[in-house]
Amino acid sequence: MEVIPSGGAHGAEIMGVDLSQPLDDNTFESILNAFHTHSVIVFRNQDITEEDHIRFSGRIGEIDNDVYSHFAHPNHGEIVIISNILDEDGKPIGVSDAGKFWHTDLAYTKTPSRASLLYSFEVPITDDGTVLGDTLFSNTAAAYDELPDDIKSRIDGKSIINRHAYAYFKSGQGEQFKKSAAALNDVEHPLVIQHPFTGRKILFCNEAMTVGINDLPTEESEQLLSFLVEWVKKPDFVYRHKWQTGDFLMWDNFPTQHFVEHNFDLPLRRRMQRITVRGTVPVSA
Ligand code: OGA
Ligand code: MN
Repeated sequence: MEVIPSGGAHGAEIMGVDLSQPLDDNTFESILNAFHTHSVIVFRNQDITEEDHIRFSGRIGEIDNDVYSHFAHPNHGEIVIISNILDEDGKPIGVSDAGKFWHTDLAYTKTPSRASLLYSFEVPITDDGTVLGDTLFSNTAAAYDELPDDIKSRIDGKSIINRHAYAYFKSGQGEQFKKSAAALNDVEHPLVIQHPFTGRKILFCNEAMTVGINDLPTEESEQLLSFLVEWVKKPDFVYRHKWQTGDFLMWDNFPTQHFVEHNFDLPLRRRMQRITVRGTVPVSA
């Protein structure tokens, strides 16, 4: 296998691995090393079954039975469908609103995802061949490192409150998340966390779910938070993934945030399936 860094803020392609086949221990270890080094890994041109997707994900850790069980694959409860496609009754076949705001998967739970593994079946392409629906990934370890020193000292030791789909409800787009939101309580996380494997410091607030910074006057919390959630979007920190059918993308949720460009609509179809692997409780850096 070969690891080819994206050349940007983070991210790499791994070539020479067929995920439909069982992997030997050495190959698997090399993939994990690349995953911890580059945070976002793409395997192109994969042709895998649901079982392959589940087997590979389960080797990384315990598969989350996600909060979107109402959008689970009909035969595999651990797989969530991400799609803008409607069924015969006009009902979405999966989550169509995923990633409208920058976020870290499951950071509104006590144990944000260690890894998300997203496999693409259909990608929206315009008549002139332009692929839409890019997914953008920010390197939030780099984003922390580059913060001005005065901001670093202001956020040192602080904690935040995260709420499922907070930005969706705030902007009147919460409909699709009503069910999951009803079942979830707010959680507290450190604002700066330590990566469980690399030890790097990571900025952990995000615009989708962070409600506020604890122990600050409301106005200061709002002002600081809006600075931080914008900061991570700086192009210097961002890898843009241009999708192809057959891409298998895996990302480390601890040192990244992501966002989907919702610049496509039916009849252009986008269909993917996702598994998340449970992470550990984030530790303050
Ligand atoms: C997700 C998500 C990314 C995408 O599945 O967690 O944010 O590109 N989706 O659809
Ligand atoms: Mn996501």
